[in-house]
Amino acid sequence: MAKIPFGPTYDEMLNPGLIDGELRARALAALEGDELDPINLFNITWCDAHQCVRKVMLPPALTGIDANVVVLLGNGFPSGSHKVGAAYCTLMERLVDGEIDPAVHTILGPSTGNFGIGTAYIARLLGFRAVVIMPDNMSKERYERIRRYGGELDLTPGSESDVILTLERTRELMKNPRNKALAQFELFPNYRFHRHVTGGSAIAAVKGIGNGRIAGFTSAPGSAGTLAAGDQIKAAFPEAKVAALEPYECSTLANGGRGQHRIEGIGDKMCTLIHNVLNTDFVILIRDEETVQGVKIMHDSTNSLVHLGVPRKLALELRTLFGPSGICNVLGAIKLAKHLRLGPGENVVTVATDGFDRYESVLKDLDSRYLEVSPQVLDRWARDIFLGAGDDHVVDFRTAAMKERLFAQKEVDWMKFGYTKEYLDSMRSQEFWEAQYHKVQLYNRKIAALRPAPERQTACSTSR
Ligand SMILES: Cc1ncc(COP(=O)(O)O)c(C=O)c1O
Repeated sequence: MAKIPFGPTYDEMLNPGLIDGELRARALAALEGDELDPINLFNITWCDAHQCVRKVMLPPALTGIDANVVVLLGNGFPSGSHKVGAAYCTLMERLVDGEIDPAVHTILGPSTGNFGIGTAYIARLLGFRAVVIMPDNMSKERYERIRRYGGELDLTPGSESDVILTLERTRELMKNPRNKALAQFELFPNYRFHRHVTGGSAIAAVKGIGNGRIAGFTSAPGSAGTLAAGDQIKAAFPEAKVAALEPYECSTLANGGRGQHRIEGIGDKMCTLIHNVLNTDFVILIRDEETVQGVKIMHDSTNSLVHLGVPRKLALELRTLFGPSGICNVLGAIKLAKHLRLGPGENVVTVATDGFDRYESVLKDLDSRYLEVSPQVLDRWARDIFLGAGDDHVVDFRTAAMKERLFAQKEVDWMKFGYTKEYLDSMRSQEFWEAQYHKVQLYNRKIAALRPAPERQTACSTSR
């Protein structure tokens, strides 16, 4: 059997200061060196080399609100998005449970992109063969990266809102017992990673900012893993409100809508199994075109941001930090803050799952659709999209009747895959989610017990 360079525990991903000092130093050095060195597993964290959460604060000149909008930045994770954390935890839990072996099993990663990229990357670092099952009409940068990491592609027809076809294809491939799926929509390591690591990092990120608390958290669900951070945030700040964001064009949670849209990574026409709907207070709809235009402004129109009053240095920093779903999350944060009438000193936290590096082709497509976009048009887009974000299309899901709609959606989406009504009903109690979360401690212990001593966690220990 291949030797495996086991990576960090949940606690170490939340607080990399807990990692053996020499090991962490080697991991940080690898960030500048070989991306495929397995030591990079120890870079799966929201924190930078100084143990500070990577984040950017958006100024009122851009957001038009008094509350602080704090964006956690996912592009600094290995493979370029925080989805690698969910992929790592899902693979690692099965590994320490003895369910998978790189000499025997192939890892399947159903995805619309970033989870597939993360799966290919983690599989490569841990010595597994990986097949990513994804729609054939996503941004080409995604396929290139998966291939770069040695992942194989099994493409299903369609785009973002056709993710169900990837799940059906995965079920088919699972008939071969050598194939093991990292089923991000239904496996709880995804929930555990985001509740413990992303939620804990969000809480750390606002220390010293405003009143040091979190009044709102927004995230557009793909798998709804990131939304699990909301559970941790509410445990620390019970007043916090959590909003799930959806494309206006595909508003499945809000009202069963099931159209096509262009915000890659989100709006997958379902209520995922791991979505704790008890903690979703609002669903907010965001127009997909505004998110793509928002990327254009951030990346190509620094001057428009400066004209709004954003300091040039910050405007230049923003160029690489956002893809469409990151802009969607920011617009959701502005809308939530307006809806809740948040004032100075209050914080809304959100995430940019990835950065601009995988959306060049999306901007090319936008440029071809608009033919010519003058600086004046970009100035107008910047004003309309960010400052003009209103509190329309905010749907309140705090009542029992509204929650019932989400439970019903989950039944429609998951009973067809063999989950029983009884099991789905058990998710109506917060205790179900607490029990899932408490397994973090179990896996902390298992990973720490099974991995080699720090000095033996080397780049050459994988083989296949
Ligand atoms: C770009 C992007 N944004 C947002 C998401 C949604 O994150 P989550 O699956 O944690 O809900 C994804 C998921 O793959 C993504 O790739």
